[in-house]
Amino acid sequence: MAPRPTPADKFSFGLWTVGWSARDPFGDATRPDLDPVESVHRLAELGAYGVTFHDDDLIPFGVDAATRDQHIARFRKALDETGLVVPMVTTNLFTHPVFKDGGFTSNDRDVRRYALRKVLRNVDLAAELGAKTFVMWGGREGSEYDVAKDVRAALERYREAVDLLTQYVIDRGYDLRFALEPKPNEPRGDILLPTVGHALAFISTLAHPELVGLNPEVGHEQMAGLNYAHGIAQALWQGKLFHLDLNGQRGIKYDQDLVFGHGDLMNAFALVDLLENGGPGGGPAYDGPRHFDYKPSRTEDIAGVWASAEANMATYLLLKERAAAFRADPEVAEALAASKVTELATPTLADGESYADLLADRSAFEDFDVDATAARGFGFVRLNQLAVEHLLGAR
Ligand code: GCO
Ligand code: MN
Ligand code: MN
Repeated sequence: MAPRPTPADKFSFGLWTVGWSARDPFGDATRPDLDPVESVHRLAELGAYGVTFHDDDLIPFGVDAATRDQHIARFRKALDETGLVVPMVTTNLFTHPVFKDGGFTSNDRDVRRYALRKVLRNVDLAAELGAKTFVMWGGREGSEYDVAKDVRAALERYREAVDLLTQYVIDRGYDLRFALEPKPNEPRGDILLPTVGHALAFISTLAHPELVGLNPEVGHEQMAGLNYAHGIAQALWQGKLFHLDLNGQRGIKYDQDLVFGHGDLMNAFALVDLLENGGPGGGPAYDGPRHFDYKPSRTEDIAGVWASAEANMATYLLLKERAAAFRADPEVAEALAASKVTELATPTLADGESYADLLADRSAFEDFDVDATAARGFGFVRLNQLAVEHLLGAR
């Protein structure tokens, strides 16, 4: 039996996830639209603590100000009734045809100005609802044709937009940080800031890098053939894991948005172990929302939608239990030490040692037994098998 989620687990879902009616490029919707108010109630019943949204998930694009206020008021009432919080908000700069060449980096300057206005309005709403993170996924920021996009100019415009937004939250006194979400492709042929690494490099060029971090998504890194747990580890190491999108993906193909763990389960295990046990003293390395950005498969009816929402949380909690058992197993501790996994935390130079000292240390080079060391195995396979056995509940 999977453990029951509670708000203390900090699970959150996008309105666009459970609310997806399953229209895809090849077929019509297989489910009716969901009222955001119903989603809030159902998610709360299932044990989630938070709900997130794009402006257009909550407020239909283009409605007048009075109608906008009504949608927000209904949603706020549902939040009050359920106790659900809004930890993150994001803006849709990809659905409307006006954004067909992007928002912040459209070749059309008028579109860029419009995109900024749309985001600024939604930043105000995010702050009003108490969100701490504002995610920016630039799905349309990119190109299909290399000659049709000046990538350096596009990055300059991207930076201009993010710098404007950070200045805005500073001037308004909002307690809000931005999280860029990398993705290599889809819907554009090539998307700017395609991976965690590209986005980290971009952030280092910003006027207020301290206000900008990442929202890495499992499937997006895996679409690029990359290791998600490694990407998360680097984001943590650089203090940039502001938020994350959990889901499942099976290899390098279109963005599948499967339930968390329904793709690369071993990597999901390593990820949960890192998040929950990778901090100082073996505690959590990340205390933000465990946010699911998945899509209930097109084959599912509405009962299947809620079953899949539960599946995300159940899988996470099971992996958390399995990871705790792995960490508590004395044989694992011994195997970690034998594999020198723990030794990597020891600095390569001794305290106060200089390169001159290293050059003078014969044991490091002249007397070092290269052959004997090279002949010794690390035992990583045994260690990984222990992880598999814990994951499978065999220990
Ligand atoms: C996708 C993305 C989106 C973003 C969302 C938040 O591939 O469609 O993952 O779901 O996460 O737009 O900005
Ligand atoms: Mn995605
Ligand atoms: Mn996402």
